[in-house]
Amino acid sequence: LASIEVDIAAVERGQSIKVMWRGKPVFIRNRTDMEIEESKAVDLSDLRDPQTDEERTKPGHEQWLVMVGVCTHLGCVPLGEAGDFGGWFCPCHGSHYDTAGRIRKGPAPLNLEVPDYQFISDDRILVG
Ligand code: FES
Repeated sequence: LASIEVDIAAVERGQSIKVMWRGKPVFIRNRTDMEIEESKAVDLSDLRDPQTDEERTKPGHEQWLVMVGVCTHLGCVPLGEAGDFGGWFCPCHGSHYDTAGRIRKGPAPLNLEVPDYQFISDDRILVG
Protein backbone atom coordinates (compact mmCIF):
# COMPACT_ATOMS: atom_id res chain seq x y z
CA LEU A 1 0.00 0.00 0.00
CA ALA A 2 1.37 3.38 -0.95
CA SER A 3 -0.58 5.29 1.68
CA ILE A 4 -2.10 4.37 5.00
CA GLU A 5 -4.77 6.07 7.02
CA VAL A 6 -4.20 6.12 10.77
CA ASP A 7 -6.75 6.86 13.48
CA ILE A 8 -4.96 8.84 16.19
CA ALA A 9 -8.00 9.67 18.33
CA ALA A 10 -6.97 7.31 21.13
CA VAL A 11 -3.38 8.55 21.38
CA GLU A 12 -3.22 10.81 24.41
CA ARG A 13 -0.73 13.55 25.18
CA GLY A 14 2.60 11.95 26.04
CA GLN A 15 1.76 8.72 24.21
CA SER A 16 3.08 7.27 20.98
CA ILE A 17 2.02 4.60 18.57
CA LYS A 18 3.96 2.73 15.94
CA VAL A 19 2.42 1.76 12.62
CA MET A 20 3.96 0.04 9.64
CA TRP A 21 4.19 1.87 6.31
CA ARG A 22 6.00 0.52 3.25
CA GLY A 23 7.65 -2.07 5.47
CA LYS A 24 9.04 0.50 7.89
CA PRO A 25 7.91 1.54 11.34
CA VAL A 26 6.41 5.01 11.62
CA PHE A 27 6.30 6.65 15.03
CA ILE A 28 3.36 8.92 15.78
CA ARG A 29 3.74 10.84 19.01
CA ASN A 30 1.28 13.17 20.70
CA ARG A 31 3.82 15.40 22.43
CA THR A 32 3.43 17.08 25.77
CA ASP A 33 3.66 20.85 26.07
CA MET A 34 7.01 20.41 27.79
CA GLU A 35 8.39 18.35 24.91
CA ILE A 36 7.27 20.99 22.42
CA GLU A 37 8.79 23.79 24.50
CA GLU A 38 12.07 21.90 24.83
CA SER A 39 12.20 21.42 21.10
CA LYS A 40 11.43 25.06 20.34
CA ALA A 41 14.02 26.31 22.81
CA VAL A 42 16.89 24.61 20.97
CA ASP A 43 19.36 26.88 19.24
CA LEU A 44 19.62 25.77 15.61
CA SER A 45 23.39 26.23 15.74
CA ASP A 46 23.47 23.31 18.18
CA LEU A 47 21.96 20.99 15.58
CA ARG A 48 23.84 18.71 13.22
CA ASP A 49 20.89 18.68 10.81
CA PRO A 50 19.29 22.08 11.54
CA GLN A 51 15.51 22.10 11.36
CA THR A 52 13.04 24.06 13.42
CA ASP A 53 10.23 22.38 15.31
CA GLU A 54 7.83 23.99 12.81
CA GLU A 55 9.62 22.31 9.92
CA ARG A 56 9.05 18.94 11.56
CA THR A 57 5.33 19.32 12.25
CA LYS A 58 2.14 20.57 10.58
CA PRO A 59 0.66 24.00 11.32
CA GLY A 60 -2.17 23.72 13.81
CA HIS A 61 -1.11 20.20 14.76
CA GLU A 62 2.20 20.99 16.40
CA GLN A 63 1.78 18.48 19.17
CA TRP A 64 1.94 15.64 16.66
CA LEU A 65 5.24 14.26 15.50
CA VAL A 66 5.20 11.72 12.66
CA MET A 67 8.51 10.13 11.72
CA VAL A 68 9.96 7.07 10.07
CA GLY A 69 11.31 5.01 12.97
CA VAL A 70 14.58 4.09 11.32
CA CYS A 71 17.87 5.40 12.66
CA THR A 72 19.69 7.44 10.02
CA HIS A 73 22.98 5.81 10.96
CA LEU A 74 22.60 2.17 9.95
CA GLY A 75 18.89 1.57 10.15
CA CYS A 76 18.08 0.21 13.60
CA VAL A 77 14.77 1.09 15.21
CA PRO A 78 15.27 3.67 17.98
CA LEU A 79 13.58 3.39 21.37
CA GLY A 80 11.10 6.06 22.40
CA GLU A 81 11.21 8.27 25.48
CA ALA A 82 14.86 7.48 25.85
CA GLY A 83 18.26 9.05 25.47
CA ASP A 84 19.83 12.24 26.76
CA PHE A 85 17.41 14.58 24.97
CA GLY A 86 14.08 13.09 26.02
CA GLY A 87 13.21 11.80 22.57
CA TRP A 88 14.54 8.62 21.03
CA PHE A 89 17.65 6.57 21.54
CA CYS A 90 19.16 4.11 19.12
CA PRO A 91 20.83 1.33 21.10
CA CYS A 92 22.81 -0.02 18.16
CA HIS A 93 25.58 2.59 18.32
CA GLY A 94 24.20 5.23 20.66
CA SER A 95 22.43 7.95 18.67
CA HIS A 96 20.29 10.34 20.68
CA TYR A 97 17.35 12.19 19.11
CA ASP A 98 15.40 15.02 20.71
CA THR A 99 11.67 15.61 21.18
CA ALA A 100 11.37 16.64 17.53
CA GLY A 101 13.33 13.57 16.38
CA ARG A 102 16.41 15.62 15.55
CA ILE A 103 19.83 14.03 15.91
CA ARG A 104 21.68 15.49 18.89
CA LYS A 105 24.46 13.06 19.78
CA GLY A 106 26.00 9.88 18.42
CA PRO A 107 26.92 8.73 14.93
CA ALA A 108 23.66 9.28 13.03
CA PRO A 109 24.07 12.05 10.42
CA LEU A 110 20.48 13.16 9.99
CA ASN A 111 17.23 13.73 11.83
CA LEU A 112 14.66 10.96 11.79
CA GLU A 113 12.82 11.31 8.49
CA VAL A 114 9.43 12.97 8.44
CA PRO A 115 7.41 11.16 5.75
CA ASP A 116 4.84 12.80 3.54
CA TYR A 117 1.62 12.92 5.52
CA GLN A 118 -1.44 15.06 6.03
CA PHE A 119 -4.25 15.48 8.48
CA ILE A 120 -7.53 14.45 6.91
CA SER A 121 -9.36 15.40 10.10
CA ASP A 122 -8.27 16.29 13.62
CA ASP A 123 -7.90 12.64 14.51
CA ARG A 124 -6.98 10.93 11.26
CA ILE A 125 -3.83 11.20 9.25
CA LEU A 126 -2.85 9.88 5.87
CA VAL A 127 0.77 8.77 5.67
CA GLY A 128 2.29 8.58 2.19
FE1 FES B 1 21.39 3.79 15.12
FE2 FES B 1 23.88 3.07 14.48
S1 FES B 1 22.01 2.34 13.66
S2 FES B 1 23.23 4.46 16.01
